[in-house]
Amino acid sequence: MKGIILAGGTGTRLHPNTIACCKQLLPIYDKPLIYYSLSTIMQMGIKNILIISNKIDHPLFFKLFGNGKKWGLNIEYKIQKAPNGIAEAFLIGEDFIKNDDVTLILGDNIFGAIDFKNLSLPKKIKGGVIFGYAVPDPEKYGVIEFNRNKSIKRIIEKPNNPKSNIISPGLYIYNNKVVDIAKSLKPSKRGELEITDINKYYLNKNKLKLIHLNLGTVWLDAGNSEALFQAAQYVKTIQERHNILLGSPEITSFNQKWISKNKLKKLIFEMKENDYKSKLIDFFKKI
Ligand code: DAU
Repeated sequence: MKGIILAGGTGTRLHPNTIACCKQLLPIYDKPLIYYSLSTIMQMGIKNILIISNKIDHPLFFKLFGNGKKWGLNIEYKIQKAPNGIAEAFLIGEDFIKNDDVTLILGDNIFGAIDFKNLSLPKKIKGGVIFGYAVPDPEKYGVIEFNRNKSIKRIIEKPNNPKSNIISPGLYIYNNKVVDIAKSLKPSKRGELEITDINKYYLNKNKLKLIHLNLGTVWLDAGNSEALFQAAQYVKTIQERHNILLGSPEITSFNQKWISKNKLKKLIFEMKENDYKSKLIDFFKKI
């Protein structure tokens, strides 16, 4: 399974915060936003990761992550020339994906309290897997409508009158066919290759699995200043209440057994003094 983090876009809804710095590098409390999506796909067991960004931001992501080796990862990079739609990730990533299945995560989405080991994720991906999450403002997202028997009726991108409050957050798992499906897409009315059209394709073939994220799980889309602030509050609250560090690639890598205890110690002690390091030291003392 390969992983793609889509971290392009213009971030205009966050101006002036994102005039000089891209959204995915803005801080969510004590670490950059993209740390959370990276940690999520690492929790899913994915080590081969492609980060897609625009040209200007690419050196910044490289400065942050390099080739990912220090965390037991292989991180590669590709440029998206313009925000032509989320589904373009599979065209840009074709050479990286090769013959594998692929998980796509949006670099501005934060997932919390999801136990991926206990989610009923299929061992072999036969089509597509999306997630369902209940929100108070579904009209802003890809909305999932249901038949009486609770199977998916249709998925509509940002409907004016949503028929359900269950939306599809920015985490998608597809078999290798997704590359061909992306090639067959036409831009939508807003001029984008829509991820919802990929999901519709799988749905029409009866090959789209939906996994509901239950009430205890957290999904945040840091798309505007209020959401960014709420996300930082969530991270601060949970970290303080439980004395843990969310969204840490170092801890995730150690938990996945991709780096040893010694390697973790080395990574921590190479860091300059800061809050993030202190929390890693707290974690280290407990293992
Ligand atoms: O956040 C979940 C939602 O994401 C889904 O429910 C929707 O179905 C999906 O279309 C998407 O909706 P958004 O309106 O939030 O998408 P947005 O255009 O804001 O893009 C999401 C992120 O992906 C954003 O951080 C920028 C990045 N992006 C977006 C596009 C269109 C790219 O890197 N390249 C792109 O071409």
